Amino acid sequence: MNYSLYFHIPFCTHRCAYCDFNTYAGQEAFIPAYVDALCREIEILARSLPEKLTTHTIFFGGGTPSLLTPKQFERILQTISNFFDLSAPETSLEANPGTVTPDYLRDLHSLGFDRISFGVQSFHPDELRQLERIHDPFDVFDAVTWARRAGFENLNLDLIYGLPEQPLDRWSATVKRAVDLHPEHLSLYALTIEHGTPFGRWAVRGLMPSPDPDAAAEMYEWAGEYLGAHRYEQYEISNWSKPGRQCLHNLQTWRNLPYLGLGAGAHGYAAGTRYSNVIRIKTYIERLASSSFDSLFPLTPATVNQTKITSRTAMQETMMLGLRLTREGVSAQDFIARFGVRIMDVFGEDVEDLLGLGLLEWVDEKILPQVPQPAGGARLCLTPRGRLLGNQVFLRFVGD
Ligand SMILES: C[S@@+](CC[C@H](N)C(=O)[O-])C[C@H]1O[C@@H](n2cnc3c(N)ncnc32)[C@H](O)[C@@H]1O
Ligand code: SF4
Repeated sequence: MNYSLYFHIPFCTHRCAYCDFNTYAGQEAFIPAYVDALCREIEILARSLPEKLTTHTIFFGGGTPSLLTPKQFERILQTISNFFDLSAPETSLEANPGTVTPDYLRDLHSLGFDRISFGVQSFHPDELRQLERIHDPFDVFDAVTWARRAGFENLNLDLIYGLPEQPLDRWSATVKRAVDLHPEHLSLYALTIEHGTPFGRWAVRGLMPSPDPDAAAEMYEWAGEYLGAHRYEQYEISNWSKPGRQCLHNLQTWRNLPYLGLGAGAHGYAAGTRYSNVIRIKTYIERLASSSFDSLFPLTPATVNQTKITSRTAMQETMMLGLRLTREGVSAQDFIARFGVRIMDVFGEDVEDLLGLGLLEWVDEKILPQVPQPAGGARLCLTPRGRLLGNQVFLRFVGD
């Protein structure tokens, strides 16, 4: 079994007004010590195993991983290769378009990065200001041009829709400008108003209108049609790609396969345990600096929460995650191979209900070309209506 590696980089130049990710502005002075701690966590994890693990994908997420220098990435990647066998079919990082230069992108490509996910959000200057992004639309054009010149053939752009009072034509202009840049992948996220963020506070005080879910649904449907017409295939509720360019790292998590999460606030799932690390940067660094190499895989001195996943929970998670994959869904055969029972033996009543409501459907042999695929056969998938009501479907697979 190959493991994906996720590294959380919790630093941002400025916190965007909508974001509640575990990330901090003005803490960049901690980056060198944080990189030391990450390298130590890699070593602790590797030493807790009887044999060398093979990595599947490597993903640096954030926060803003592009605040690390090429030297710092080199050190982390070198440490990974000292302790793991690298099969790495994909080495990605998330980058804020306002933080990159041509030289920087060239250096990353030389280090072995082959995929960049740029947080674009919008191409409208007013919307970018409203979101408190540090970049303008021209920075995005530059970042994409420089990334191409540096040799990157796999780019993702993140966009956010459903902003307060956002008209459909502004959203469609953003999607069109994104498509004009020919990224291999697009992630479209509906704005969530998060408690504790500036957007959350403004919404509570009535200083900002709440997003309109009907308008957001219209934007989602419009984008789905436009992207389909431009040869992007939807493969997950929020993700579209050119054929064969799905994000392999995220596919690993949606297929409920193991990944190790390293860094402050990172989550992981391995050896039947879900776990998460301490959130604060300073505590994370201290925990790793003062610890010995003794730990029980997949836990490290940074771990603060762990849950043993029972077979029942693993089945529920496999359904909830797998149904996010709009074309692949959950394979009946894979389910039996993994759990020794049929989907219908465990979830028969709920599945029958959801089929009757037109939210789920059985599909034969939905093959995603060029992506390593689990065995074929009948697959349970969300219908187009089910995609809009995904959360209601997933709720049916939670609980006893
Ligand atoms: C960790 S960030 C990506 C990289 C980088 N930090 C950036 O923003 O440029 C992941 C993505 O989550 C999305 N996101 C964050 N908070 C969100 C929210 N409240 N609602 C919808 N999407 C959100 C944004 O599209 C963002 O690009
Ligand atoms: S959206 Fe990205 S850049 Fe903005 S605060 Fe969140 S992680 Fe940082």
